[in-house]
Amino acid sequence: MTDRPLDMFWFIPVSGDGSYLGSDKGIRYAEFDYMKEIAQAADRLGFAGALLPVGSHCEDPWITAAALAPHTKRLRFLAALRPGLATPTHWARQTAALDRISEGRFLVNVVSGGDPVELAGDGIFLSHDARYAHAAEFLTVFRRLLAGETVDFVGEHIRVEGARLLFPTVQSPLPIWFGGSSDAGLEVAGEHADVYLTWGEPPAQLAEKIAAARKRAALRGRTLKFGLRIHIIVRETEREAWDAADRLITHLSDDAIAAAQRKFALESDSIGQKRMSALHGGRRDRLEIAPNLWAGVGLVRRGAGTALVGDPETVAARLREYQALGIDTVIASGYPHLEEAYKVAELLFPALGIESGRKWSHGTAVGEYGVGSGASPRAAAE
Ligand SMILES: Cc1cc2nc3c(=O)[nH]c(=O)nc-3n(C[C@H](O)[C@H](O)[C@H](O)COP(=O)(O)O)c2cc1C
Repeated sequence: MTDRPLDMFWFIPVSGDGSYLGSDKGIRYAEFDYMKEIAQAADRLGFAGALLPVGSHCEDPWITAAALAPHTKRLRFLAALRPGLATPTHWARQTAALDRISEGRFLVNVVSGGDPVELAGDGIFLSHDARYAHAAEFLTVFRRLLAGETVDFVGEHIRVEGARLLFPTVQSPLPIWFGGSSDAGLEVAGEHADVYLTWGEPPAQLAEKIAAARKRAALRGRTLKFGLRIHIIVRETEREAWDAADRLITHLSDDAIAAAQRKFALESDSIGQKRMSALHGGRRDRLEIAPNLWAGVGLVRRGAGTALVGDPETVAARLREYQALGIDTVIASGYPHLEEAYKVAELLFPALGIESGRKWSHGTAVGEYGVGSGASPRAAAE
């Protein structure tokens, strides 16, 4: 076990939000003003960054991050990048522009995409492994451009001549974050990634994946950092936390679960998605798949399908178990993302020793209007 502080990121729900899974009840659309509220809350509460996913079901994460950056002060924006959507030179320019606009707060999460039906709509017809072959070529060129090189490159998928990035990034080097659990994905991670991301599988399963990723990197004389993408349902007591988890799926029908699982099985070729779906097998009666690890989100949500559920000390202890495996960053989320950002920051940050974003405390008047005990730090010092 370790007491090193975890880097805690939050999530911007660019495909919408709500209080219940698989239901229109209380649905919140991905309106920019709402995204702004979440980003500003995460910024003020002390989250280190926020992930924005990419896909046809998402408001564009790059445009959204660019628009959110001036409304925040410290929050870093980790936007997903699908290499097949444009050339490495184009993406390098976008990356550098966003890094400068945000004054060094921009990060990229390279994801090849795992749904051929959806990718076809984007004009990407490569097979699973060919997408990773393309991603490897992409990252070779992209990383060299970010490093300031003039690049000539001829690959199977990508060719550039005299490619250059004339407006550099602020961060140097700008780290590459990467998600993908298949063999082909691990190979690309070993070669090119700085931070390897994984969805929240049970710790024993995750230990194997982390070992495999480490091995691929070590073969190339490289090391990786690791990030865990997981939901968090934290409340003052265990009972309240489990009640909140149950409440999330109260309006979720068996038909909706079956339809979602069928879609994932038929349309997705992602190994990571298969590993997530296998955790619950579409059954709502066996959702605690490891102590405090609940697979209910994955009944209808693609990708990150598990949540840590419990009181602050318990959730903190579970995160420490992941940290002991090598996790440095946790990308957390919860429905709805505005309220749950407060829950995580106010309940879990103290248990994890993460500093809140608070810059100052009130004076002696605190307490008189029912807030606080009156024993403010300033009053105590006087
Ligand atoms: C933390 C994390 C975030 C991801 N975000 C996205 C995303 O925003 N959009 C997307 O299309 N795929 C995303 N993916 C999935 C990747 O596209 C992945 O390459 C795909 O599922 C195929 O993976 P495989 O190597 O497991 O077969 C993400 C994966 C992880 C682990």
